[in-house]
Amino acid sequence: LYPPGGGGENKPQAARDILGADIKAADWLKAHPQPGAHDLTQGLKGDPTYLITSPDGASLMSYGLNAVCTHLGCVVPWVPAENQFICPCHNSHYNNEGKVLRGPAPLPLALAHVDVGDSGTVLFSPWTETDFRTNTDPWWA
Ligand code: FES
Repeated sequence: LYPPGGGGENKPQAARDILGADIKAADWLKAHPQPGAHDLTQGLKGDPTYLITSPDGASLMSYGLNAVCTHLGCVVPWVPAENQFICPCHNSHYNNEGKVLRGPAPLPLALAHVDVGDSGTVLFSPWTETDFRTNTDPWWA
């Protein structure tokens, strides 16, 4: 059980833009209407984290992807033409869900939950459940 006010480690945190302003889901979708669009925000602990537009372009996916490469920590760009993340440092490839397609990256990109709060703000919270891409415990939790 989690006493109210205790801990706070799993508290949702607003996704922020490059200027540190909270991101509203409606604004983000207006700027990223393409189905499957991926773009960077500031996530949990300030980590660069991708928000993803759903396949129908109408909402956000319920997970975000931490952009820090699991090899040696470069920020991994999304390459729309390839529908992959491709790390510029040592050429690891990840699919659109952050699963490793090609090493040296040893592990998938870390997940965070994405929700939309009452005020329309996009919220990240820690992902502590099974990693749906590998059916294993999350390596980052
Ligand atoms: Fe990404 Fe090495 S840091 S492949």
